[in-house]
Amino acid sequence: MPVVTFKVSGAENCVRVAGLPYVYIRTEAGGAVLPASCPHRGGPLNLASVDATGRRLVCPWHEQTVSLARLSRRVPAVRSGDTVTAVVRGPVDAPVELGHLPVSPELDAGT
Ligand code: FES
Repeated sequence: MPVVTFKVSGAENCVRVAGLPYVYIRTEAGGAVLPASCPHRGGPLNLASVDATGRRLVCPWHEQTVSLARLSRRVPAVRSGDTVTAVVRGPVDAPVELGHLPVSPELDAGT
């Protein structure tokens, strides 16, 4: 599985591994790296809102919810300052590309 390092915000706040995007998000519950693609039909989870429980993301495309804990367990990560290192699924030689994705205000709310 590829080990990738990218920024927690700003110009390189997204890493694509084999074409699948991952971003770092900050909620009241803490920080985590998530796949930015909804499991339903690939909607932009980086633009999701957080439901009233604070535990589920609401996808902006079809408003299905997905567990924040379940998503974050899929991507073990450690933050150090303004960077985060994560282990993502995929072949170790998968193409890796840094880039930028906007993050909804609710996913940029923590510290
Ligand atoms: S793509 Fe996310 S709910 Fe449909």
